Amino acid sequence: MEPAQILIVDDEPNMLKVLGALLKREGYHIIEAMNGEDALELLEEHHVDAMVTDMKMPGMDGMQVLDTALDRHADLPVIMITAHGTIDTAVEALKKGAFDYVTKPFEWSELRSVIAKAVQTVKLGSREVGVESIVMGHEGSAVKDISLIGSSEPMQQVFDVLEKVADTPSTVLITGESGTGKDLIAKEMHARSRWSEKPFIKVNCAAIPSELLESELFGYDKGAFTGAVSTKPGRFELAHGGTLFLDEIGEMSPEMQVKLLRAVQDKEFERVGGLKTYKVETRLITATNIDIKKAVSDGRFREDLYYRLNIVNIELPPLRERRSDIPPLCAHFLGRFNEKLEKNVGGFDEQAKARLESYDWPGNIRQLENLIERAVLFDGNGLIGLDDLPNEVLDGEATHETSRVPAEGIGLKEAVKAETSRIERELIVRALEQTKGNVTQAARHLKISRKSMQIKMKELGLRDDSPR
Ligand SMILES: Nc1ncnc2c1ncn2[C@@H]1O[C@H](COP(=O)(O)OP(=O)(O)OP(=O)(O)O)[C@@H](O)[C@H]1O
Ligand SMILES: [Mg+2]
Repeated sequence: MEPAQILIVDDEPNMLKVLGALLKREGYHIIEAMNGEDALELLEEHHVDAMVTDMKMPGMDGMQVLDTALDRHADLPVIMITAHGTIDTAVEALKKGAFDYVTKPFEWSELRSVIAKAVQTVKLGSREVGVESIVMGHEGSAVKDISLIGSSEPMQQVFDVLEKVADTPSTVLITGESGTGKDLIAKEMHARSRWSEKPFIKVNCAAIPSELLESELFGYDKGAFTGAVSTKPGRFELAHGGTLFLDEIGEMSPEMQVKLLRAVQDKEFERVGGLKTYKVETRLITATNIDIKKAVSDGRFREDLYYRLNIVNIELPPLRERRSDIPPLCAHFLGRFNEKLEKNVGGFDEQAKARLESYDWPGNIRQLENLIERAVLFDGNGLIGLDDLPNEVLDGEATHETSRVPAEGIGLKEAVKAETSRIERELIVRALEQTKGNVTQAARHLKISRKSMQIKMKELGLRDDSPR
């Protein structure tokens, strides 16, 4: 039987890392999202057997994710991770249909058995994934609120190409480092085509286990393999008349590359276990953040397929090669997060501005976006200064993250516990700093009650000297 696939949602990368490692050890397939929006998108793109989500996240919180996820997938078991002392929220989540909850810092054995139970329930209930749920049409919010920033010379060139090819059927390969905007460009291309009202279907080739990718792309017929109890069309069929976006194409296995080549070359394919040949008309866009030319010369990616996909190439330059885009991007994200988080942060002070413009941004626009979201979240309503910037930006190197990976030999259970309290402590201290020690305000920032804040502070040995 296929291992169950679990979607983990948490805004804290280390938490994702640790939880992911623990669950992988249990034999699950893992998909990860760092915020609610991504989680919901992934949910449309993949078969997910159970979702584990943190309650407290910037932007969409766990409760909103729960609501929307259950709207679309009523049977999905959702497990909430709630902070210690927020039992009311947990109960509310259960009322809304959450499968269960665990409180932080959690016992791994508890979470493990809750997940096992959730997965079992799904298997017994033989949940069917609705085809509509996979189609992200033009109405889908993801396509609508596009705002591409880029007045730098290299981005202007990108926009020129985009303009010229968007409304043509030519196959496009988008390359560029992680976080440079490949997804956004693919969506924009669809939005500017005459088939923008038709489906835009995205498949993340790296997120789908390779043995499942063929049936995802081409579908399967009843009885094709154990578990194929019905017939299911693949993403190629679903994208008929619209755009098919194959992301992370560089990760595709050699066997799949052959199958894709045929589909691209002859515009036809068969479903897994099926005899009928299907013809589809779909605009194909692919993307990768690896050096695909090198993959070709190393023999990891088929040359013939590369030429088929690379009819038009859009190469997105890393942010450090278009520094003049940094200030307008900062302004754009500041406005967006002020609105989303109901804040009124005025801007950046001179030192912070200078640092943001000189930093190298290995994670490109996504890293900048996350940084600003965090700074807006924690800043009161003043200006963002150097002390609102994370260490890796201040030091110019990302030593911070790696030093936090649990050392080998430390039990994972302890690591999760230690990591959880470290994160809690950091967030609480930070919130208190921002509110100059005002516990009520800090609690509000963290979306917990004043009472639980005080309990937490006591646990962590933090002093409460705000007036009662
Ligand atoms: N030109 C731009 N203007 C405004 N926002 C942008 C721009 N380019 C990217 N972004 C934002 O930056 C984030 C990362 O972009 P995106 O997901 O498209 O990157 P990517 O290249 O697909 O990354 P990955 O390789 O990790 O998949 C997104 O939130 C996107 O909205
Ligand atoms: Mg992407």
